[in-house]
Amino acid sequence: MRLFLFLTLLLILMSCEKTAVQPGSTGEADRYNEDHRPQFHFSPEANWMNDPNGMVYYEGEYHLFYQYYPDSTVWGPMHWGHAVSQDMVSWEHLPIALYPDSLGYIFSGSAVIDWDNTSGLGDGGEPPMIAIFTHHEMEGERNKTNTFQYQSIAYSNDRGRTFVKYEGNPVVSNPGIKDFRDPKVIWHEATKKWIMVFAAYDKVRIYNSPNLIDWTFTSEFGIPGDKRLWECPDLFPIQVEGSGEEKWVLITSIQKEGPNGGTATSYFVGDFDGATFKGDNKNQKWLDYGTDNYALVTWADVPKSDGRRLALGWMSNWQYAQQVPTEKWRSAMTLPRSLTLHNSSGDYVLRSHPVKELESIEKESNAISGQTINGTFELPTQPNHSLYKLELSFERPSKGIVEVRFSNDVDESLSVGYSVADQHYFIDRTFAGKDDFSDAFADYHTGEAAYSHDQIDMVIYADLSSIELFADQGQCVMTDIFFPNEPYNKIEIVAENNDVKLIKGKVTKLSSIW
Ligand code: FRU
Repeated sequence: MRLFLFLTLLLILMSCEKTAVQPGSTGEADRYNEDHRPQFHFSPEANWMNDPNGMVYYEGEYHLFYQYYPDSTVWGPMHWGHAVSQDMVSWEHLPIALYPDSLGYIFSGSAVIDWDNTSGLGDGGEPPMIAIFTHHEMEGERNKTNTFQYQSIAYSNDRGRTFVKYEGNPVVSNPGIKDFRDPKVIWHEATKKWIMVFAAYDKVRIYNSPNLIDWTFTSEFGIPGDKRLWECPDLFPIQVEGSGEEKWVLITSIQKEGPNGGTATSYFVGDFDGATFKGDNKNQKWLDYGTDNYALVTWADVPKSDGRRLALGWMSNWQYAQQVPTEKWRSAMTLPRSLTLHNSSGDYVLRSHPVKELESIEKESNAISGQTINGTFELPTQPNHSLYKLELSFERPSKGIVEVRFSNDVDESLSVGYSVADQHYFIDRTFAGKDDFSDAFADYHTGEAAYSHDQIDMVIYADLSSIELFADQGQCVMTDIFFPNEPYNKIEIVAENNDVKLIKGKVTKLSSIW
């Protein structure tokens, strides 16, 4: 009898312990376990995040600052949040780096290491880290002054742990252009000057400086007649793969009419002499055809020995970013990617590749042997697990589509694939889950295939609320978010009334970074 009572008591205690960590409570066990919380993408612990900012590598650390509003899950007075990582995969959250001040909110910008202390802001020890950002002054905006955005700097002499705002701010004042923001600074070795590129409404402006403090306007670049709002540019040299040729890439995010609606990241390829960017302004390309990769910029000061051009973007879209159904926080970043430039029959194109460091979250993998699929073929997955990397190569069928379908037990699904007739890749999130928060969300998105193929190669990263497709060796990339009522627990290759030949496949289980 006593044993029976003891066992009953033990069972009651165990079940109490279980309810103590149910979602919705605030216990440590729930941390990064909330509904839709990305498991291998960066997201803030709580509250609102948008653009990545101040991405710089220094002393073994990748810094990621970001647009942050610590008091709410919607946009508000902007701060720079801060995190660091040794591999761009696992992140350590650090205290807020920059707070709004009398000159305004802290909008997007960049950071560099001032190796030779050209600014004089170093303290004689290590070179200072300089953050260059836009001050956005609310009073001026309310009074419609058109001069309420200007560029300022702050410096850190302790590896980015604390920043002091420069007392002579702003360093670039506004001549009367309402949208005048998002400075990205680089060192231009040939002219031995700092270069600043930022968005000025429908174009970018370029400045140079010997010391990060005194800036001179040199040129602007835009598309004649273009009236879209440009934001968050980046400018960098990159070697064309397989040649000794160097070109310059100008990245710019565009606030409307992205390839599938709303905001998206684009680029131009050209040349830069330290003053003027000469690129074909009729040849604007999309870096990512999905709806959810905005404000992508690259890391500064990645060591030459590494040589990669590393980037990430904000994984959302201004069309619905403030309405998405996450409760404690809003938004995540895309996977970190390395960019390569290719000369494709005389046209220069960027390809994006998930960084190799992501191998650290790869667990067991299952190889799938070549076979013809007619109907559905279920890929090997594990119960209660939804984080996967898929590598699939197909022979191009003569008709129809190649479809990879992710689904759950409540009849929600998301499809990723290739359409033979339209020669495009697609992500269909029409029936992916929650979508009543925005009319712009549930939809079928397409991405231009890079070339006509006999073989269709797709690498797909599936997290709990995002999918990233790297097709055609990274030339056609699509990043989309989604919000299923239950995590997807089934992955199938679907070939309805068709023969689809899988050449080879691999399913790799991924683990959480939190
Ligand atoms: C882009 C952007 C930037 C601006 C920031 C404000 O998403 O609009 O142009 O600096 O967000 O948070």
